[in-house]
Amino acid sequence: MLSPNLSGLFLAIYFVHTCVAQYDVPPAKLEDIYPKGLRVSIPVYVNEAGEPVNPDDVRSVTAATLTLSPTPAPVTPADRPCQVSRSRVQLPEFICSGQLLFEENFLDPLAIGNLWEPEVRFSGEPDYPFVVYMYDNHISVRDGHLSIRPVLLEHKFGESFTRKPLDLGSRCTGEVGTAQCYRSAHGAHILPPIISGKITTKNEFNFRYGRVEIRAKLPKGDWLVPEIQLEPRDNNYGTLKYASGLMKVASVEGNGILSRTLTGGVIMSDREPFRSYAMLENRGQDSWTKDFHNYTLVWKPDGISLFVDGVNYANVDPGDGFTKIGLENNVTAASQWAQGSLMAPFDEMFYISLGISVGGLNDFSDSTPKKPWHKKSRNSLLVFWNDRSNWYPTWHNEEAELQVEYVRVYAF
Ligand SMILES: *[C@@H]1O[C@H](CO)[C@@H](O)[C@H](O)[C@H]1NC(C)=O
Ligand SMILES: *[C@@H]1O[C@H](CO)[C@@H](O)[C@H](O)[C@H]1NC(C)=O
Repeated sequence: MLSPNLSGLFLAIYFVHTCVAQYDVPPAKLEDIYPKGLRVSIPVYVNEAGEPVNPDDVRSVTAATLTLSPTPAPVTPADRPCQVSRSRVQLPEFICSGQLLFEENFLDPLAIGNLWEPEVRFSGEPDYPFVVYMYDNHISVRDGHLSIRPVLLEHKFGESFTRKPLDLGSRCTGEVGTAQCYRSAHGAHILPPIISGKITTKNEFNFRYGRVEIRAKLPKGDWLVPEIQLEPRDNNYGTLKYASGLMKVASVEGNGILSRTLTGGVIMSDREPFRSYAMLENRGQDSWTKDFHNYTLVWKPDGISLFVDGVNYANVDPGDGFTKIGLENNVTAASQWAQGSLMAPFDEMFYISLGISVGGLNDFSDSTPKKPWHKKSRNSLLVFWNDRSNWYPTWHNEEAELQVEYVRVYAF
């Protein structure tokens, strides 16, 4: 990702050298910005036509700055006064209300290590989806969008692989030495039978408060659920059972008629009924998985609003804070939230996460038609896998993919 910027820098230096060869080019100024990481500016002298000139050759010159920067450049507070935003990102420290903080249009191959990090780990607490996240050609960028496709473990590793050991080795992004990186099947405890994908901005872009806009096509197929969400960076209110919260920009159950119900909002517990307390619904005439839609989550210091295609369909109001309702629902972490602001646990830094979840213990209620496993059952992986002749035929190639056209984050 640095290379286009750097080659731009060399071009600029070459350009300045050619035109103004007789004086020393001032040192280029490098600044970090999101999303492309780098802005280069070099002071030069220009004539009235804006062309760089040697300051010794002409009598009237203007000092200007040649700036190479990915569009759009951040507003410089010094020359354009703005309303200081309450949004926070790691860099730059000072931002204006409404400023574009992050943009990804998926036009180039994924900027792994620069903007995005793929998850490589077995899924786990608190929902235990039936997947292992890997990074392979089931995650790709093509035709101007990101695509993540769920794949059967056996299709990659061979028949009966669900009964073998699998070590994710040094590529594992989970906790080494735990079930996040290594699993061995025994008895009914088979390996998660699905390889899924998830990419996050965990190491590159975290923010607090803002407007997230994501244009995406959601996966269609039984037991598929998109993960288009914001996850907490520091887990300051605890790591287990969503103690530090999860924000869902858009979610839909991929099963036939169920995919007419879009949900969005926040999750603060693994247990119902509180798990769904602030996950709000929008029933459509048609399935949400059919086309691309614009999904927006507005996160402010006093509430969260959800939009689809520009229409506001739900608002999460913290009232006097989530502590009281949390305690009423026996959520241990709720007493911690009292230490934070009204929005706690949603008053910390969060990052963007895009992926697909399959099945799991909490996403689908036991009353879902044709659901073969139960929340409480101990062999849900095996029961789910044994039922594959029913669900796998509903995953039709591209329709079963999560496709994302862009992700943008604006300062609140
Ligand atoms: C969705 O976003 C696209 C691109 O930003 C825009 O052209 C389109 O008008 C939006 N659609 C709706 C229904 O808001
Ligand atoms: C919370 O715990 C109390 C005492 O154990 C119990 O009576 C109550 O039903 C629980 N509430 C919920 C929502 O689980």
